[in-house]
Amino acid sequence: MNILIINGSPRKKGNTELLAEAFAKGASAQYHVEMVSVRDYKVSPCLGCNACFKTNGICAQKDDMVLIYEKMNQADMLVIASPVYFYGISAQLKAIIDRFHNPIRDSFHIKKMALLLVGAATLPELFDAILTEYNLCLKFFEIEDVGKVLVRGIKDKGDIKGTHFIEDSYQLGASL
Ligand SMILES: Cc1cc2nc3c(=O)[nH]c(=O)nc-3n(C[C@H](O)[C@H](O)[C@H](O)COP(=O)(O)O)c2cc1C
Repeated sequence: MNILIINGSPRKKGNTELLAEAFAKGASAQYHVEMVSVRDYKVSPCLGCNACFKTNGICAQKDDMVLIYEKMNQADMLVIASPVYFYGISAQLKAIIDRFHNPIRDSFHIKKMALLLVGAATLPELFDAILTEYNLCLKFFEIEDVGKVLVRGIKDKGDIKGTHFIEDSYQLGASL
C-alpha cells in the first residue's frame, strides 16, 4: 500500500508535522509512506472555472498541484494532517482539497483515509466542523476511515513532543 500524507501546517517541525511523522514511522514498517507539506508546494485556490472538465483534467492554473495529482494517483491511502485554523483546516490544505474538483479524481484509487488534527483550545466542539467535512468527503469518494488522532490543548511549536498523542499517532500507523 502506498500512503500519502498531506501535512497542512506551514510551520516547519510544528506539532502537525511531528504528529504526521509519528504516523509515518508507525506505518513505514509495512508500507511505503510519503509526506508532502503545504509549505513546499505552491497551490492556488480553485477558480471555479470548470475548464478542467473540458480539458480532461488540465487545470487552467499552472502550479504545483500537478505534482500532488501525480502522488494522489499513486496513493492507496490518504492521511490528512492539519492544524486547526479558526475551527477549520488550514487555508493551504483547503486549497489542495478544493483542487480535487477536477475529473482527474476519477483516476484516484484511494480506499482508506486517516485524520490527524492539532488545535490549541480544549473545547469539546473544536473539531466538529472539520469532522463534518471529513465524513462528507469519505462518503463522496467512498473511502473508509481507518482512524483519527485529534489533539486539543497544544499551541506552541513543539508542545506536542513527549505527549501520548505522538505514540497514539505511531500506533495508528502501525495498526494498518
Ligand atoms: C491562523 C491560526 C488560526 C488558529 N485557529 C485556531 C482555532 O480556531 N482553534 C484552536 O484551538 N487553535 C487555533 N490555532 C492554534 C493552532 O491550531 C495550534 O497552535 C497548533 O498547535 C498549530 O500546529 P502547527 O504547529 O502544526 O502549526 C490557530 C493558529 C493559527 C496560526
